[in-house]
Amino acid sequence: MDQCDPHGNGKTKPPPPRRRGWWQCSTTAVTLLMFLLTNTVSIVVSSGAGPSLLRRYRPATLRLWDGSAALLADLTATQAALDASRAELAGLHARVGTANELLRTLLHAMAAPDGAAAEQQREELLAAAGGWRRELAGELKLAVGPLHSLTNATGGDEAAAVFPALGHACVRVQDDLERYMAYTPGGECPADEALAHRLMLGGCEPLPRRRCRAPSPKGYAHPLPLPASLWATPPDTSVVWDAYPCKNYSCLQQASTSSSPGVAGCDGCFDLRKARWARDDGALSYSIAAVLAARPSGTVRVGLDLGSGGGTFAARMLERGVTVVTAAVSAGAPLNSFIASRGLVSVHVTAAHRLPFFDRALDVVRARAGGLGGGVMLEFALFDVYRVLRPGGLLWLDQFPCPRAQVNATLAPMLGRVGFKKLRWNTGPGKEKNQWYVSALLEKPMA
Ligand SMILES: *[C@@H]1O[C@H](CO)[C@@H](O)[C@H](O)[C@H]1NC(C)=O
Ligand SMILES: *[C@@H]1O[C@H](CO)[C@@H](O)[C@H](O)[C@H]1NC(C)=O
Ligand SMILES: *[C@@H]1O[C@H](CO)[C@@H](O)[C@H](O)[C@H]1NC(C)=O
Repeated sequence: MDQCDPHGNGKTKPPPPRRRGWWQCSTTAVTLLMFLLTNTVSIVVSSGAGPSLLRRYRPATLRLWDGSAALLADLTATQAALDASRAELAGLHARVGTANELLRTLLHAMAAPDGAAAEQQREELLAAAGGWRRELAGELKLAVGPLHSLTNATGGDEAAAVFPALGHACVRVQDDLERYMAYTPGGECPADEALAHRLMLGGCEPLPRRRCRAPSPKGYAHPLPLPASLWATPPDTSVVWDAYPCKNYSCLQQASTSSSPGVAGCDGCFDLRKARWARDDGALSYSIAAVLAARPSGTVRVGLDLGSGGGTFAARMLERGVTVVTAAVSAGAPLNSFIASRGLVSVHVTAAHRLPFFDRALDVVRARAGGLGGGVMLEFALFDVYRVLRPGGLLWLDQFPCPRAQVNATLAPMLGRVGFKKLRWNTGPGKEKNQWYVSALLEKPMA
């Protein structure tokens, strides 16, 4: 896992190969596209925007000795010139919008029964333009379109419209999304958690809401009370297993503790016996006590675990009076069910997701492998962690994997750029060969 490789992100799949090259398009398509290109160029030229946009604005030399009146006049002239450019750009934008409409119409026309190639190309062009491949229908159209509240407080004007949240990458997986939205409104949702996870991991996050009842596992029983629930394996009847290769917790425990294949990215998640964060080895393994001691007693109260575990960190913290929310993605195993059964709070947050917390909301964030992504995504994630931490809040990198050469070349400067201050810093080889680890306690400065 090249967590901090600046040039890549191991999780990003390469784009699917193009099904058909541009050179294979039909003569009709070429003609129409040439027509459109000519049209667009003529719009730009006739609007007069081309030459004037190419002309650079040359600022008048500021003559400070002229006094403030001359300076003010110069500044006003600059402002006026800027305003004029903006208005020109807005006009041009509107014209390009019109040309885009024309393109859509033309591409529709190209989709004649004999033009299978043209149809395929039309789809590719629409997808590239950020559009859906097919017109939306049914529940999907309802769930994605603007919604109106039942009580139109303002008398039914546009202010009552609410635009539901939907991951923008959903347009890329329209086939799966349509399958996900094919349910009976008001009935029971299909057992399709696997499909939902696939959609979310493909970037379709958040998913649209649905008007169906999520199924409950058969024979569900009340959970154990706290604190017993923290350290008991939940009953198998607390999970809907359809989406997972394992069909019970004993299978999961075996998979997550065995050295080979295991449950991906989940090192002993379901193993409750391991004593963790109790002993500080002065190197990569920090103890919870040592981390909490970095702040005045009792001032670490709420936190977030981006550690891709089964909630054990949150359980240990709860025993010390700290409320920790665990970020989990139940892709290969029912991590969310497991954490919930233990009496802990889990939220569905992937490495690509803006953290669902307000600014300065948390006292501590722990991050481990996979929780923050890599490459450029890592820098965005670190700035987001900085945002949700309060001044004086702690970021604990807990055995964060990083190629050895990148520790000093990439990770350390990046943390500094974001604004974190090092309180503690340890690096060293980890369990895996050729893999280097970083443990660090970092502080968001008070001022
Ligand atoms: C609320 O306003 C919308 C938009 O004007 C309208 O379509 C809808 O019927 C209104 N709903 C109610 C309950 O009045
Ligand atoms: C657990 O599930 C596995 C398959 O996933 C099965 O082989 C095993 O018998 C099950 N064990 C119990 C106790 O149900
Ligand atoms: C990083 O730099 C420090 C000195 O600034 C050095 O002691 C350390 O070994 C370097 N770490 C790696 C992983 O290269």
